[in-house]
Amino acid sequence: MAAREGMALVDRDEAGVDRAFRADVLAGLRQAQKAVPARWFYDDAGSQLFEDITRLEEYYPTRAETEILEARSRAFAMAIGPGRAVVEFGSGSSVKTPLLLSAIKPAAYVPLDISGGFLREAAARLAHQFPGLPVHPVEADFMREVALPASVSALPKLGFFPGSTIGNMVPRTAVDLLRSMRLTLQADVGVQPMLLIGMDLVKNPRVLIAAYDDAKGVTAAFNLNLVHRINRELASTIPADALRHVARWEDDLARVEMHLEAVRDIAFEVSGQHFAMQAGETIHTENSHKFTRRSGNLLLAAAGWTPRRRWLDSARRFSLILAEATAPRNAP
Ligand code: AVI
Repeated sequence: MAAREGMALVDRDEAGVDRAFRADVLAGLRQAQKAVPARWFYDDAGSQLFEDITRLEEYYPTRAETEILEARSRAFAMAIGPGRAVVEFGSGSSVKTPLLLSAIKPAAYVPLDISGGFLREAAARLAHQFPGLPVHPVEADFMREVALPASVSALPKLGFFPGSTIGNMVPRTAVDLLRSMRLTLQADVGVQPMLLIGMDLVKNPRVLIAAYDDAKGVTAAFNLNLVHRINRELASTIPADALRHVARWEDDLARVEMHLEAVRDIAFEVSGQHFAMQAGETIHTENSHKFTRRSGNLLLAAAGWTPRRRWLDSARRFSLILAEATAPRNAP
């Protein structure tokens, strides 16, 4: 999974507080619609809760995407070909990577992650599993263009971005990211980069809501963990027992939204600043956009990627799209 964070690349103040975390929380709580960016879910407890989510009966995306990777290895080999450097954006602790690597005979594997810890673990595991495959981990924030190691600069690249993490970004951010990926993957050879990207599909809202509001309450615990993290790390007094997990489908925006809703009027402090919420008011904590064939294609095209192949799982819930960087061209 992509959106992890660790000790590396974190700017802390004298008291050890992550400055970006505090700035995001304070700015988000001052807005008319209170909001905290979803990237802050993933402290150690949040990352563990997300792993638990991926094993839930109701949370189909991980199983569906793994099914595609297992079932379509020959099609990947044909469409992608051997000899590319696979660059995985947010390698996390993904179990999907070996399925891709064994399907396509890559020339190298380059996991990118903001967390050095996760990165080293992923690199060591893959190097052990694929002896002879050069593995070059890069600790970086892949939301911007990343300089890849010189040893892979001449190789054609395949970007790998599974999990539908792209759906956690609003379209403007998603396009910025897809564009940066294209720049990161550009090689010193004439072969255009490719991108294999997971996109979850629009479907019956009941299925979607169940996936984000499971019967065991694991997703609720994942959402509320953000409050515990804010209280612990930012000297805050948010009464977690006064907030309840809400998942709702926003049809016009084609996304599941997660919120924390106040069940009574509350007042609290975060890093010395005062805030209040009325009963029914929410903190917006996550968007998970869902795609159709056309909306996925459009998002990719907006960032200079041309979709070439698209595979679905047997229940048609999830898609993996293979896109190729498009040479710049004048309109129309
Ligand atoms: C990481 N990301 C793709 C997950 C999703 O489905 O949007 C995060 C998640 N949030 C709640 N459940 C899972």
